[in-house]
Amino acid sequence: MTPESTSDAVTPLLKIGGFTKRFADVVANDDVGFDVRAGEVHALVGENGAGKSTLLKMIYGVYTPDSGWMLVEDHEATPGSPAEARALGIGMVFQDLRLVPALTVTENIALAMDTGWNLKLDALATRVSDASQRFGLGVDPAALVRHLSIGERQRVEILKVLMTGAKLVILDEPTSVLAPQEVDALLGVVRHLRDQGLGIVIVTHKLREVRAIADRVTVLRGGKTVLVGATPGDYTDDELIEAMVGRSVPPLIALRDAVDTAVPPALLMEGVSANSDRGHQALTSVTLRVYPGELVGVAGVAGSGQRELCEVAMGLRDASAGTISVSGSPVTNPKTAATAGAVCVPEDPVADSVVSRLSVLEHMPLDGRPIPASGLGVAWALIRRRTDEANAKLGLRMAPKHRKLSELSGGNIQRVILTRELALDSTLVVAAYPSRGLDAANVRRTQEVLLEARSRGAGVLMVSEDLDELMSMADRIVVMHDGHISGEVPAAAFDRQRLGQLMVEGVS
Ligand SMILES: Nc1ncnc2c1ncn2[C@@H]1O[C@H](COP(=O)(O)OP(=O)(O)O)[C@@H](O)[C@H]1O
Ligand SMILES: [Mg+2]
Repeated sequence: MTPESTSDAVTPLLKIGGFTKRFADVVANDDVGFDVRAGEVHALVGENGAGKSTLLKMIYGVYTPDSGWMLVEDHEATPGSPAEARALGIGMVFQDLRLVPALTVTENIALAMDTGWNLKLDALATRVSDASQRFGLGVDPAALVRHLSIGERQRVEILKVLMTGAKLVILDEPTSVLAPQEVDALLGVVRHLRDQGLGIVIVTHKLREVRAIADRVTVLRGGKTVLVGATPGDYTDDELIEAMVGRSVPPLIALRDAVDTAVPPALLMEGVSANSDRGHQALTSVTLRVYPGELVGVAGVAGSGQRELCEVAMGLRDASAGTISVSGSPVTNPKTAATAGAVCVPEDPVADSVVSRLSVLEHMPLDGRPIPASGLGVAWALIRRRTDEANAKLGLRMAPKHRKLSELSGGNIQRVILTRELALDSTLVVAAYPSRGLDAANVRRTQEVLLEARSRGAGVLMVSEDLDELMSMADRIVVMHDGHISGEVPAAAFDRQRLGQLMVEGVS
């Protein structure tokens, strides 16, 4: 219960020890300690439920620890409220953004100042603009928040925190709500803040982001710290995942056997064009083959036609020209695709394949195949048994069967769809951003399941924004640029630079 003397050469901005917090019978944090220095980015990682948000909320004064101590620049101080935390120079950006959409950026920031409305808005607007420039945030003080993208709103939240005088900025999973191109922009902002001497705590599930940005990393598992203030470069990805999940992870091995091109492709698209929802041409003369036992990766800048490619392959979107077949059977609608053995993980499961008032169990038969019947009703006993089998087979620890989808987070919904689709015996798997929203352990398990599908002879078409993921798994990568395939690279010739050029410029 007493602070350790901090004889480190540098006095940390924040140091905590012995933090423990219980919620009824859950010990969310158990004797947690770590420290954050000025001018460093400290990543806090761990599986869902590891206790990260609880820890951060205690530092920010939202929760009071049951026990533990906290030093801010060597002075003992445990904030009893967020206002007290702000007075200590601690600011936090929550997972769910807390801005008023109908107000401007400046008005939102005024609301956040502890002085309230008791200040001149145009003077504040100038300060907002100055701070935005100084920290490289690119925020327009006069913009209405409802006109801003999620990434821009997040930068407003960061600005709000900075303008209330934060020296320590806590970001709880900021990248999980961002589109891929916004992630890099945010990481740039975080670097900028660090260079200005701030201390940053950032929660993320992505090891790539830890590697890109963190000076040190702390891993929480089951409410306990298993790695404290480690240098990420001292650990391999597998070691970090193991620290998070508490067991060793088998290496991901993509077997690249020669495929048999004499058989009908699992997916054959010839000269396929299609329009987007907005009516402009989204695919132009795409020709693509995925053979049984082959995993073909699709790379490209977001919005280059990946969504339409997957939808057309699954018969969910009409082609305006060209033909599509799955295992030799023509595909003209979702039913023909399902009958031919195709399964699909859509780009946006929440919008595309979820009925939020239904339970996990009720989603299981909605896979495009005939719903199992018993007498005149639905064979729920059979569906229940198959669900348990799918869970055991996939190992993605899907939420309990009775939970409604409306109560689940994006990552949990993704696991329901992955479990339903990938447990089916399929000839073609179309997976759009399959690991989006998942924590590291589930990302790894999903990758294994896709490689297993490929090894048992399914063709796999996998879209990802993560080139490293594609390069570690695919037999071939096709690159999409502006609705057409700008190039194709076999595994032996994978090269980030060449792929990047094909993505951005459409030529290599
Ligand atoms: N307000 C709360 N009431 C009850 N249990 C909670 C509350 N907040 C978190 N928990 C539980 O504490 C554990 C840690 O949760 P959390 O800190 O949100 O983890 P993480 O942010 O790492 O996903 C979980 O088991 C969660 O269910
Ligand atoms: Mg959390």
